[in-house]
Amino acid sequence: MFEDFLEASLADLDRRNLRRRLRISEAPTGPVIKFGGRTLHNFASNDYLGLAAHHDVVEAAVRATRDFGAGSGASRLVSGTQLPHRLLEEKLAAFKQTEAAMAFGSGYATGTGVLPALAGKSDVILLDRLSHASLVDGARLSGAAIRPFRHNDPDQLEHHLRWAREKHPTARIFIVTESVFSMDGDAAPLREIVDLKDRHGAILILDEAHAVGVLGRGGRGLADELGVGGRIEVQMGTLGKALGSSGGYIAGSRRLVDFLINRARSFLFSTAPPAATAAAATTALDICTGREGDLRRAKLKTLGNILDPSRPAAIFPWILGSEETALRAGEALMQLGFFVPAIRPPTVPPGSSRLRASLSSAHAEDAVRQLRAALEGLDDAPLPDGDTDSVCPVCGGPLTQEKCKVVCRSTVCGYRIVFNCSEF
Ligand SMILES: Cc1ncc(COP(=O)(O)O)c(C=O)c1O
Repeated sequence: MFEDFLEASLADLDRRNLRRRLRISEAPTGPVIKFGGRTLHNFASNDYLGLAAHHDVVEAAVRATRDFGAGSGASRLVSGTQLPHRLLEEKLAAFKQTEAAMAFGSGYATGTGVLPALAGKSDVILLDRLSHASLVDGARLSGAAIRPFRHNDPDQLEHHLRWAREKHPTARIFIVTESVFSMDGDAAPLREIVDLKDRHGAILILDEAHAVGVLGRGGRGLADELGVGGRIEVQMGTLGKALGSSGGYIAGSRRLVDFLINRARSFLFSTAPPAATAAAATTALDICTGREGDLRRAKLKTLGNILDPSRPAAIFPWILGSEETALRAGEALMQLGFFVPAIRPPTVPPGSSRLRASLSSAHAEDAVRQLRAALEGLDDAPLPDGDTDSVCPVCGGPLTQEKCKVVCRSTVCGYRIVFNCSEF
């Protein structure tokens, strides 16, 4: 019965073009990726500064592993806090120019730990509608009244702030948003949000996951670029994107950190990340804030201008609508040698499936120009009928392409995309 339920659920996802499969990469994260023996230009990684495979970052991780072991052995509060964790937190606080900072095992664990620790049943959370799942899940876990506001709409946010003050006069009111949105690549109207927050006595939780490393002085993020960092109560980010490692963090007052050390359950009840990831992130921060970081950001900007100069950071979405349209477009680009993932619900709202290209300073200008040409030609690039010599991105087996589907011929793999032909 249980297996039947699993099979039926997977078949349903298949039917709706919503099934995900893991692709096995055979190379380090970088400007190219290898799937099934095939090398593709990689426009799917958030390694915006190309630091994940940077020699000094990798060496720092290796050294920390030799010195501190492969695992931390316990949660941070028991015996898992090792010197690299402390050094990372000091460096993060200096980077964000706050009294203190605190690292978590992942960005997801940061959102799901911090929001329920700070907000409770008698509080209100006003959340941008396009906020990342970690923020949505954290808000839900908190038990607070949640009121989403239209994406990047300060007018509706102000309306909700008034509503919250009137209906919940004793509540603490939290505004939760990202600074650069993960799937849309646009920037929040942060100055207006900070002004509103102050005017209405609310508390701002800002996730800078996709802005850190990319925007602001030394890559400090959008809040720094706009000069409002000192007015934000809770600054949040990840170490696994531009900083090339893994983990998440919050930065703020000493009291905030001391409180979260005691109350954030994803911190309290989880084994500390290995020292290697902390040491790697610390070295990445040094690079990010130094001259090399500035050069990498300048290159990233040049590359971004090739794709779309109006985009503020390193994320470039092409919104296509249906799931199958996005899958088909991703598949067509793959045939041309580009890995640009199709993003579908629940990552984005239904009807807004898209291709999402992310740039890295490690990309070659030529590759980005070729991608732009491929995207421009996408409308006239039907998938060929019948067999080709293309390779399955999951297992490396032979792919059969027919008018409305792409199927792996390996009997054990099962990779299959079905398109709605009436849409194409
Ligand atoms: C805005 C945002 N916050 C948090 C996260 C989660 O970070 P992590 O991947 O480190 O868990 C992501 C990841 O994509 C993100 O886009």
